[in-house]
Amino acid sequence: MDETEKPSEAKRTTVGPPSVLAYLDPNYWNERFTSEDHYEWLKDYSHFRHLIQQHIKPDSSVLELGCGNSQLCDELYKEGISKLTCIDLSSVAVAKMQKRLFSKGYKDVKRKEPCGDPWNPRPEAENKAMAMLQGVHRVLKPHGIFISIAFGQPHFRRPFNAPEFTWSIDYTTFGDGFHYFFYILRKNEL
Ligand SMILES: C[S@@+](CC[C@H](N)C(=O)[O-])C[C@H]1O[C@@H](n2cnc3c(N)ncnc32)[C@H](O)[C@@H]1O
Repeated sequence: MDETEKPSEAKRTTVGPPSVLAYLDPNYWNERFTSEDHYEWLKDYSHFRHLIQQHIKPDSSVLELGCGNSQLCDELYKEGISKLTCIDLSSVAVAKMQKRLFSKGYKDVKRKEPCGDPWNPRPEAENKAMAMLQGVHRVLKPHGIFISIAFGQPHFRRPFNAPEFTWSIDYTTFGDGFHYFFYILRKNEL
């Protein structure tokens, strides 16, 4: 979230914990989501809607990894995308998401085992990140796309280029001043 933006009306916490190691701890996320109802870690949907809409249509099946308490899935649902699955490591995030979204007609919010650790660059973490990418690549349909929105620049995304992946890689940016990267990885289009 851009710190110059107005915080959401819901209760929010600070951006991060005192140590980045806390990001590895499911308890951190559970405690955080117990007291926080909504927080967008990057820009909210309005900032990249024009990019998403080029790739996701109402009949698309969407899997959101690490949904937290973001309202991205609400926004996609409002766009007519109903085949949405949101997963998160945190049972608290999932429980709150289920409560919030089921009343809107949602069916699928799941807790999943860790899908990778993007926070720590140690080798074991890189292995986890690679395992996450392998999982994403495995579940993508032919010509399916993996969209990753991050402030990490392309040279920090070298694992996308691993030879085992058959996806093409493209990216664009959005944001004023500070650029966010919108990566589009399309399977089987090399
Ligand atoms: C930085 S927050 C981003 C939340 C949301 N996507 C957003 O943009 O506002 C990271 C989210 O990923 C979840 N998470 C962290 N590690 C995870 C893991 N290994 N597997 C699945 N989810 C994880 C956390 O519980 C948290 O909800």
